[in-house]
Amino acid sequence: MSTSTPELLRMEGLRKVFPGVVALDGVDFDLRRGEVHALLGENGAGKSTLIKMVSGAHRPDAGRILVDGREVRIHGAQDAEELGIATIHQEFNLVPALSVAENIFLGRQPRRLGLIDRPRMNADAAALLARVGVEDVDPRTPVGELGIARMQMVEIAKALSTRARILVMDEPTAVLTGDEVDKLFRIVRSLRADGAGIVFITHHLEEIAALADRVTILRDGSSVARVPAATPQDELVRLMVGRSIEHQYPRRQAPTGAPLLRVRGLSRHGAFQDVDFDVHAGEVLGLAGLVGAGRTEVARAVFGIDPYDTGTVEALGRQLPRHDINAAMKAGIGLIPEDRKGQGLVLDAAIEENLGLVTLGRSSRFGFVDRAGAHEAARRIAGRLGVRMAGLHQHVATLSGGNQQKVVIGKWLLADTRVLILDEPTRGIDVGAKVEIYELVNELTAAGHAVLMISSDLPEVLGMSDRVLVMSQGRIAGELPAHRATQDAVMTLAIGTTTPNEPEASHVH
Ligand SMILES: Nc1ncnc2c1ncn2[C@@H]1O[C@H](COP(=O)(O)OP(=O)(O)OP(=O)(O)O)[C@@H](O)[C@H]1O
Ligand SMILES: [Mg+2]
Repeated sequence: MSTSTPELLRMEGLRKVFPGVVALDGVDFDLRRGEVHALLGENGAGKSTLIKMVSGAHRPDAGRILVDGREVRIHGAQDAEELGIATIHQEFNLVPALSVAENIFLGRQPRRLGLIDRPRMNADAAALLARVGVEDVDPRTPVGELGIARMQMVEIAKALSTRARILVMDEPTAVLTGDEVDKLFRIVRSLRADGAGIVFITHHLEEIAALADRVTILRDGSSVARVPAATPQDELVRLMVGRSIEHQYPRRQAPTGAPLLRVRGLSRHGAFQDVDFDVHAGEVLGLAGLVGAGRTEVARAVFGIDPYDTGTVEALGRQLPRHDINAAMKAGIGLIPEDRKGQGLVLDAAIEENLGLVTLGRSSRFGFVDRAGAHEAARRIAGRLGVRMAGLHQHVATLSGGNQQKVVIGKWLLADTRVLILDEPTRGIDVGAKVEIYELVNELTAAGHAVLMISSDLPEVLGMSDRVLVMSQGRIAGELPAHRATQDAVMTLAIGTTTPNEPEASHVH
C-alpha cells in the first residue's frame, strides 16, 4: 500500500440519473486509512446510490472514483473485490436456500482436488461467525431460517472474509440491537486500528459520535457538508434536513377508553408463555425487550400469521379464531411487520397500488372501486410521510430503503384499523420522517384507536408510550407506567433475573 497517499478512496463530482430522478448530482467524498467516515442524509438523499458506485452495482454518469490515488472503473463485484472493497448492502444479498457457510463464501468456496472442501468451508465460516459473536449459529443452517439480525451478522461475516481494506456498510445497525451493535462497533474499531477505512451509513445520530471520525452529509443528491463526528446532533439534523427539529417525541396523550385488544394466557411452546395484556382505545402500549424476547412472535400470533398453543385473543369484545389473518383484519387489527421487505410490499408494483393494498376493498362504492378516492388518499399519505419519489406510479423496488418503509407504514395508516401493531416502525427512517410517523400515531389515538408499539429503540418506546410492557425470555417481565419507565427500569426487566446457576435461557428460539 502506498504511504504517500493515506487516502484510500476518493469520489469527485459523482452524478447518477435514473428515469425521472437525479439521484446524485455533484457528490464529493473521501476516505482515509484508519478512519470511519459516516454518511448521513434523509431517506432518498442518495446514500445507497453513492455506495453502489463503489461496489460496482451502478456506474456513475459523470465524475471520478480514485482508489489509492489512482482513477479506477468499477464494473462489477469482482472489480470491487480486486480493489479490496467489500460492501454490506442495505438489502441483504443472501441466498435463503443456501447455508450460512455457502453464503459467506459464495463464488469463493475453498476447494480440494477440484471439489468444494465443505469441512474446511464450514470451519472457516464458524471462525468468522465467532468473530462477529454469533457462535451459536451452525454454518450449515440455511440462511432463510435465521432471523433478520442474524442475517445481518452473516452479511458482516461475509464482508470480513474478503479481508477488504475498504469496508462499506449501509445501515448495518438498522436491524441490530444493544449487544449486537456493541459487537459490531468492536469489530469496526479493530478494523480501523488495522488501517482499514470504513464508510458507515446510519440514521442513528448517536452512533456517529460513538464510532465515526468524520461525517459527510448528503442532501437531495449533493454533498452539502463535511464535519467532525463530534458535531452536536441538532447541528447534524439541521445540515441534513435544512431545518431544526424541536420535539423528537411529540406524544400527545389521548383519553383512554375500553380495551380494544385483549390477550390472555397466550403461549406457544418455545416462543412465549402466559402472555396477558390489554390495549385500550386512545392508548399507545409499548412493548420493549431484547431481540429474541418473543415480542415479534406474540405480535404475529395476535395477528394470525402464526398459531399459538393456548390462550385467547379478543378484538373489540369478540374472540378471534387462531391463525387467521383475514379474521384479524376484519376485526380491525393491522400489523406493520419488522421484515417489511419480505412481508409488507409488492416490490414490482407501483407505490399507489401498494398503498391501496389494504384499503382497496373498503374504498369500493356499490361494488365499484373508488379509484379517485384511493388515488387522493395515496397522494395525501405519501405527501405527509415525505416519500421521495418520481410519482405515485413509480415501482416500489426503485425507491430508497427508507422510502419503501414509509410506503408499508402508509398503507396501514390508510387502512383505518382500530388496533394497529407496529413492529419496529421507524427502523431505517430518517429523523424528520420519524416525527411525522409519531404525529400520525397521535392522530390514531386521538381518534380513539389503539396502538401496540414494539421497538428496540428505547428512547422511542419511552418517548411515545403511555405504558410500557417489558418482555424477557418469552414472558411479560413487568409493566411500567410512562412516568416510571426509564431506560434503567426497562433494561433491568428485559435482562431478567436468571441466576448464574440456572441454565442459560436467553435464546428463546
Ligand atoms: N434503480 C433505480 N431506479 C430509479 N430510481 C432509483 C433507483 N435507485 C434509486 N433510485 C432513486 O434515487 C434516489 C436516491 O436513493 P437512495 O437509495 O440512494 O437513497 P438513500 O439515501 O440510500 O435513502 P434511505 O435512507 O432511504 O436508504 C431515490 O429518489 C430513489 O428513488
Ligand atoms: Mg439507502
